Amino acid sequence: MQTLLRKRPTEILKDINMTQTAPILIAGAGPAGLVLALALRQNGVPVRIIDKEPKHHLGARAAGIMPRTLEFYDFLGVLPDIMKASTQPPMFCAYKLPGGTEIEETYPMFLSNEPALDRPYLNPRILSQDINQAVLRSHLAKYDTLVELGTALRDFEDKGDHVVASVVKKGPDGAERSESYVASYLVGADGARGVVRNRLGMAFDGEAYEGLNMVFSDVRIAGLGGEYWHKWGEMSDRMVTLRQTEEGDRFWVLGGGRQMDTANLRGEPESMTQWIADVTGRRDIKVTEVLTFASYKLSRLAVDSEFSKGRVYLAGDAAHIHSPAGGQGMNNGISDAFSLAWRLSLAYKSLASTELMSSYSAERAPIIKTMLQRTTALLENSSISWGKFALKMGPKDKLPLFQLDLHYRWSPVIVDGMREKAPPNAGPNGNMNQGGIVLAGDRAPDAPGLVDLTGNDSSMKTLFRYFKPTHHTALLFTSSTGSLDAFVSALKQVPGGVVRSTVVLPGTASVRPDTQAEVDWRSRADCALKDCEGHAYDVYCVGARGGDVAVIVRPDGYIGAIVKDGEGVAKYFRKIVAA
Ligand SMILES: Cc1cc2nc3c(=O)[nH]c(=O)nc-3n(C[C@H](O)[C@H](O)[C@H](O)COP(=O)(O)OP(=O)(O)OC[C@H]3O[C@@H](n4cnc5c(N)ncnc54)[C@H](O)[C@@H]3O)c2cc1C
Ligand SMILES: *[C@@H]1O[C@H](CO)[C@@H](O)[C@H](O)[C@H]1NC(C)=O
Ligand SMILES: *[C@@H]1O[C@H](CO)[C@@H](O)[C@H](O)[C@H]1NC(C)=O
Repeated sequence: MQTLLRKRPTEILKDINMTQTAPILIAGAGPAGLVLALALRQNGVPVRIIDKEPKHHLGARAAGIMPRTLEFYDFLGVLPDIMKASTQPPMFCAYKLPGGTEIEETYPMFLSNEPALDRPYLNPRILSQDINQAVLRSHLAKYDTLVELGTALRDFEDKGDHVVASVVKKGPDGAERSESYVASYLVGADGARGVVRNRLGMAFDGEAYEGLNMVFSDVRIAGLGGEYWHKWGEMSDRMVTLRQTEEGDRFWVLGGGRQMDTANLRGEPESMTQWIADVTGRRDIKVTEVLTFASYKLSRLAVDSEFSKGRVYLAGDAAHIHSPAGGQGMNNGISDAFSLAWRLSLAYKSLASTELMSSYSAERAPIIKTMLQRTTALLENSSISWGKFALKMGPKDKLPLFQLDLHYRWSPVIVDGMREKAPPNAGPNGNMNQGGIVLAGDRAPDAPGLVDLTGNDSSMKTLFRYFKPTHHTALLFTSSTGSLDAFVSALKQVPGGVVRSTVVLPGTASVRPDTQAEVDWRSRADCALKDCEGHAYDVYCVGARGGDVAVIVRPDGYIGAIVKDGEGVAKYFRKIVAA
């Protein structure tokens, strides 16, 4: 094994057995499945992604993209397209009842924030889920990977070193064709009613929010202005909200409430028009077409503490479902997918330790529990009007809904050589990585004002430009060649491609990108950056740590290790990489 590990992943692939090189099968092409597929393809891992629906899913559904998700999209390279397609969150407009035409109050969903140096995206974006998914698919297509529609996972068997899946494809004539498919791993990103969780025999624990009947629908309405997210009533009683989507006359209906009777409501124009009129008093709102319709009781559900079994993993709604209050469901699923992708990619290349693979559940399950508590508190608090969730939740640039505060400080695969500086109570519910000292397990913050000495582009860069889902980025904060060489030589023991060494020189270091420096930093590491304005040294608290620090940023943008020497580097990678 030792000799195997010295080789590049592509060389390793030639040595290992066929079943290991079989693609990873992803069941479900919702946001979780698509993000996972894209990140795996960027890692050079073959993927087959299937969806049982004959057409791509239509509908606005989860439209709020939170700041942490925007950061993941940045690392995946899809952010520019997402920003172009999306808008800023609209203002809510609440109407007086009865009557329904007089404005009672208007309010923003989120107060707008100036970006911070370490948090470049501090404003959520709004984008209908079907468009979001189309953007993700267009990027996946660049890797020659298309979603296979009309293709359902029926069953599977975990054979220990591979998975055999039973897949059923519906032809255009409606005839079904079954196939046995050999995959190296299977991921159930197959949503709330997924078969994968079911077949694994994992209980979905939780409960319905008693008495909360909800209606979600995409409709066409003629003649209603789109400036606002229109709202009548409250969930404690009866509520209808209408948000205009990207497509002019198409509106997203989210309605429901404890006093709402939806038993006779049907997904057709007359019934919907009547229902909206009953709740809002507005006879002028005419539904001309119903594109999607769903009516059900809200629940919160999650698998207990394991998101995987053997070679089979769960991500997104397949593992946990949330109420729409606070808009966290899809964002959590994307976060699962991003967290799983680098692990599966290393596993596929036979480089992942057992501990790394089990840490997926260890990290995600407590986060999801916390998230469900947060969103339940929002949903059940009758003093918070629908849409005012963010306004009621404290500092506007540190909102828990942004998911920027989540950290994995307690994770079994984190190494903190400076643990004594950790504040007490840094468990899964512990808060924030802003304000306090940044610790291993935290979200790796951004920093602007860096010049890349390795390239010939002298424009200022941000650290985020160097974070990618394909490799660890070891930020080596030092200006001592001895210390740098010790870090780099420890990093060279790590199999090829897993980590990039990046020396970050202080702004005072005597190097300039355009001249021959006294020390050629560029030949000593994969990449050399100069922290011209000192922001990187500042936000990573290098001074407080006494300098010469290695901060190892994982491919998912969280800090895997903060260590002082080569032994610390080795200790971290012993946890991550298979022995
Ligand atoms: C009607 C509705 C309204 C919603 N409204 C909101 C909202 O207002 N705000 C909010 O934040 N969230 C909302 N959500 C939740 C949000 O849409 C989900 O959290 C999000 O889509 C989860 O992403 P996912 O990728 O995990 O699963 P999904 O998006 O559910 O994707 C799962 C995919 O798997 C496919 N699939 C299922 N079984 C199989 C199989 N056996 N084989 C192959 N493919 C399979 C499905 O066709 C589907 O495309 C809503 C959900 C629904 C259903
Ligand atoms: C409900 O929300 C208000 C406003 O944010 C808050 O002060 C209160 O503590 C919450 N109540 C409960 C029961 O969570
Ligand atoms: C540097 O410049 C040359 C030509 O001027 C170009 O071909 C090369 O790609 C550039 N390298 C980088 C790393 O930008």
